[in-house]
Amino acid sequence: MLKVRGLCSGYGRIRVLEEVDLDVEDGEIVTLIGANGAGKTTLLMTLCGKPQASAGSIAFRGQELRGLATYQIIRRGIAHSPEGRRIFPRLTVLENLQMGAVVCGPDHFQADLDMVLDLFPRLRERLKQRAGTLSGGEQQMLAIGRALMGRPQLLLLDEPSLGLAPMIVRQIFDIIRTINRERAMTVLLVEQNAFHALKLAHRGYVMVNGAVTMQGGGEELLARPEVRAAYLEGGH
Ligand SMILES: Nc1ncnc2c1ncn2[C@@H]1O[C@H](COP(=O)(O)OP(=O)(O)OP(=O)(O)O)[C@@H](O)[C@H]1O
Ligand SMILES: [Mg+2]
Repeated sequence: MLKVRGLCSGYGRIRVLEEVDLDVEDGEIVTLIGANGAGKTTLLMTLCGKPQASAGSIAFRGQELRGLATYQIIRRGIAHSPEGRRIFPRLTVLENLQMGAVVCGPDHFQADLDMVLDLFPRLRERLKQRAGTLSGGEQQMLAIGRALMGRPQLLLLDEPSLGLAPMIVRQIFDIIRTINRERAMTVLLVEQNAFHALKLAHRGYVMVNGAVTMQGGGEELLARPEVRAAYLEGGH
């Protein structure tokens, strides 16, 4: 579905991504792990056209995305739940979900809303609440729900577990698994929480200083001593 080759990107003269190769197949959950500042967020943002890649290619379903504007990329079926959630705090939960649906028009709105609210029943109880007053976990659910409202073929998730209590983290990861299995959603998941992410993912990539240094099956990476030493505290 997604084939990234030789991707270079950065901010002005600061180069962050160094010739990244990465694939995501239809129906997979692929995770990208790495230390703070490795370039994970920059990769997801470059896939969405901001910043623009300075070299390489991004093929999505065989079509080149490099050079397209963000709105064009989103229309082709990629949704991004950004780091830090970036929900609209002064809008209600329902209005945030409506914003997510803008890319695909009103036809399926009610069905998609029901689907998202079935996945996240806590949002159903809070439809009229201002999003900025939701708890951190609820805001994360809203960010994922908003991304799903655009009917994406590929869901990009940037650190959905950030700042959440372990029980909520498990809930969020369970929901990602459900969306993948029951809705056949393809997911590219960026995570600091390497243990949970590699357990969940079919495959993973490790990024160091803007370059991919290791890749393999989720369980396979989890078993590697160098991954355990660098990314799993106390072997966990
Ligand atoms: N808007 C920006 N302008 C200049 N440099 C930036 C900008 N955003 C990020 N960077 C730099 O790019 C590098 C990679 O940052 P990025 O946010 O992609 O890392 P990350 O792997 O997502 O880290 P984290 O796990 O902390 O979220 C860092 O050195 C960062 O300072
Ligand atoms: Mg980041």
